[in-house]
Amino acid sequence: MIGRLNHVAIVAPDLAAAAALYKEQLGARVSAPLPLPEHGVTTVFVELPNSKIELLHPLGERSPISNFLANNPAGGMHHICYEVEDLAAAIKRLKAEGARVLGDGKPRTGAHGLPVVFLHPKDFCGTLIELEEVRSCEGVPARSPAEGAAA
Ligand code: CO
Repeated sequence: MIGRLNHVAIVAPDLAAAAALYKEQLGARVSAPLPLPEHGVTTVFVELPNSKIELLHPLGERSPISNFLANNPAGGMHHICYEVEDLAAAIKRLKAEGARVLGDGKPRTGAHGLPVVFLHPKDFCGTLIELEEVRSCEGVPARSPAEGAAA
């Protein structure tokens, strides 16, 4: 059901320092900070050959990651995001299997303008999981059934 790892989100207490760390020490391509007021975060995108890292810092007084930073003052991994082709079908299957979808259980528009939901960390090895609906996985050739069977 899940496809590619879309991104790993890391909350950073100092976004500029975190961006410099990825750029200078790890030699990655990083974006300029992008404020997303409707999501209560400022984010720096780190482009990797096979995925992305999103460095997050709270923005505004009601940021959804303020508590995380208060509990983890040095920062830390916040969530991982997997791509799915059909979010409604994924939600239906997960609910049928007893997994908890956070909030009202309905997709909302995520930081990339695509529908997302979050799954309860206690149902997934202590990891907050974001599912993002990506209908056309650019650059990733669709697997033939034969390849799928071999993998
Ligand atoms: Co995310």
